[in-house]
This record gives sequence, structure tokens and C-alpha cells, in this order.
Amino acid sequence: MNKISIVGTGSVGSTIAYTLTVMGIASDIVMIDINNEKALGEALDIRQGTPFCGACSIYAGDYRDAVNSDIVIITSGIARKPGQTRLELAQTNVNITKEIIPEITNYAPNAIYIIVSNPVDILTYTFHKFSKIPENHIIGSGTILDTARLRARLSEYYNINQSNVHAYVFGEHGDSSFIPWSVANISNVPITECHKLITTPGISSPELDLEEIEQYVRKSGGRVIARKGATFYAVSVSVCHICKCILSGIDTTMTVSTMMHGEYGIDDVCLSTVNMIGHNGVRGKVNVSLTDEEIKKLRHSADTLKEVINNLDI
Ligand code: LAC
Repeated sequence: MNKISIVGTGSVGSTIAYTLTVMGIASDIVMIDINNEKALGEALDIRQGTPFCGACSIYAGDYRDAVNSDIVIITSGIARKPGQTRLELAQTNVNITKEIIPEITNYAPNAIYIIVSNPVDILTYTFHKFSKIPENHIIGSGTILDTARLRARLSEYYNINQSNVHAYVFGEHGDSSFIPWSVANISNVPITECHKLITTPGISSPELDLEEIEQYVRKSGGRVIARKGATFYAVSVSVCHICKCILSGIDTTMTVSTMMHGEYGIDDVCLSTVNMIGHNGVRGKVNVSLTDEEIKKLRHSADTLKEVINNLDI
């Protein structure tokens, strides 16, 4: 029996509920929204497909129904509009998060919280400062999505299974994110050597334009929003992966946003590096070796976030 509650049933929250159901990750899913009619409609629509999925009870409710949740997923807030940065959303969504925290944490004090709303690093930090939830139970989805976009892109270049591609996006889930290329590899071949060392008779491997890939990944969310008004499929699968790893018996590494405590010289800010995630939430970090240049980029990302935090009422 695994119970997952989702706060916010817009496109992201509802698609997460749908994906959790189809993947058979939870036995109970509660959908909570200030627009209760919307939550009821979404839950009903998903529930009516459950005969073709694993057994699962999915229903709309209020905060009280979140009692005994193993995981709570926060997706509420105003969505990014075309052309708007995640940081421009900040104060509005900080205020919404501060209203939600006492309600939800009152009923689900032992749950592991996954913050998905943007700007995700700022809202994860707000959760740390404003709730009494233990630190290891607070996870921001962070750059898990950017990392997925990167791995999907690299696997296209080399026509190789995504699971053979080991590469990460670090920092803010936003414009100051970056790719530590020094640790990116395909089956242990450093990414900059792949065009020479991945050999297929008769086919030459492309040399990568690292800057182009980095821009592609950074701009991906904005590009999808410009075309269809929102992003929700890739982020939903990423969040369901986090849930699956929390509920599994063995910890999994992934790039998610957690509190920094001096790693890479960074303190008191939430951003993404490699974390170990499992049934206790955040077990700790895998502090991969970065070049001096990469550490500078990570610190720049931390400073960008801190500047926003200093200008907010958290
Ligand atoms: C994106 C949104 C979720 O990057 O920030 O797709």
C-alpha cells in the first residue's frame, strides 16, 4: 500500500496522477486543488481507465484526505507563461506555497515532499524555511528534467539507449543551469571522445557541439511552452521516477534540488547536484569531482538563486 497525494491538479499535477496510475506506482492517489470541481473531474477521468491498469484507488479530496501519505507532490502555483522566466514567477508562487505548507504538513507530517512548482529551487528553499518537515523529506524536482532532456538528446546523437548515457545538468532548474561535461560519458567513454571511440562500421559518429547541446537543454522548457503553452509529460515521468525510487528498496542517484551544506563551497541554498534518493528521502549527496571551471558555474548558479531569495519575502 502506497499513498501519494498531489496538491494542484493543473496540467502537471493531473498528468503526474495519470502517469502514477498507468505505471502502477501507488495504490492510493489523492488529488487536491482549490478548484475542487477540476480535481473531481480529473480524478474521475483517470479512475475510469483503471480497469486497464494495476489496482489503484484515485479520488479528489481536501487536505484531510492526505493523512498517512507516503509522498506528497506539490504542483500548485501559477504556471510559466510564454516568454516568462521561472524566477519572475517567484513571489506569487512563494506566497501560494506558504499558504499550503501549514495545511498539508498538518495532515501529512511524515510524508516525503516532492516540490515541482516553479521556480522549483526557490520553492524547495521556502519549504525548508517555512515548514517543520525534516530536511531529508524535502526534495525539489530540480534538474531531473533537464538531465532527462540532456540524456535523451545525447542518445539521439549516438543512436544508443538512454540508460547507457551518463550525464547531468547541475544548478538551478533555469537559466543558470549548466552541464558538467567532465563527468559526462557513454559507457565510460568521455563525451568528448565518443566521436572517435564509438565506432560503427560504415557510419561515422558526430563530434558534439557542447555549447549547442547546452543551449538546447536550457531552452527546452521554453520551447515547449512557446509551442503548446505548457510542459507536462516529461516532468511527470521524471516526478514518477522519483516516487518509484522512494518506494523501492534501494537508493538511486539522480539530480534533484536539495539543501546545500558546504558542498563545492555552497551553503544555504537549494539546487541540483547528484543525490541519493530512497525510502528515507534524501540519503545524501554523491559529490562528483568537478573541474575548477565547473565549480565556478555551480557557485554562479547558487549566487543567482541567493540574489532572488534576498529579494523575496520568504
Ligand atoms: C520545464 C518546466 C517544468 O522545464 O520548468 O519544462
